[in-house]
Amino acid sequence: MSDDNKVYVKVSEHGPYLIYGSPPCIQRIIERDGDERSRTYRDGKEFELSDPAALCRCGASQNKPFCDGSHKNADVDLKETASFEPMLDGAEITAGPVDDLADNESLCIHAGFCSADGSAWNLVTEAGDEAQLNLRSMTNHCPGGRIVLVDSETGAEVDQPLDLRVEIVEDPQADHTSSAIRLTGGIEVISASGRSYQVREREALCRCGASSNKPFCDGSHYEVGFDDGLMG
Ligand code: FES
Repeated sequence: MSDDNKVYVKVSEHGPYLIYGSPPCIQRIIERDGDERSRTYRDGKEFELSDPAALCRCGASQNKPFCDGSHKNADVDLKETASFEPMLDGAEITAGPVDDLADNESLCIHAGFCSADGSAWNLVTEAGDEAQLNLRSMTNHCPGGRIVLVDSETGAEVDQPLDLRVEIVEDPQADHTSSAIRLTGGIEVISASGRSYQVREREALCRCGASSNKPFCDGSHYEVGFDDGLMG
């Protein structure tokens, strides 16, 4: 179980995410280039989180990203279905001359960073500085941690450390769609049953209510046209 001062997320059974520890919370907006390839994020609004703060996970709140109690009347199944196994257990490995690339497709949220400069699966096989730099940028930006570099000798994840915070992701160039809640810096997520998911540097939580991999996002927000109304 978590300490009192620690930042962590508790999933409530048919309700919001409870965020403990008052981490920084900021809107992060995906920036796509002229070919609609995702390259980076820019910062948007900041949100102050109480301790705990309740963030909407059903998609129905009129006060997003916060919960306003709308889940009580929302026709949405918030049951958790995600695996508790470590990411690498369900990953395919592509070997490279520097590091290997682990890919666990169940964590994909379809944000498109992995194809910004060629595909990550091709770049990992190249030893050149430019390819390796682009590859690191892709894995670092991948919101849900579908792709991660692993040490080819030890098999350990070599994810770039990120600041600890909660990010409200928007993808306005993709039909004005809002995206997941991105957790960075290694924030523990505890299921409604009390069991913890693997703590990772990058995780993406569903906030539209449509994911088939709850509490994690699976990109369904694009299919349902989720719009949190925060982009005006
Ligand atoms: S936010 Fe619900 S599937 Fe992505």
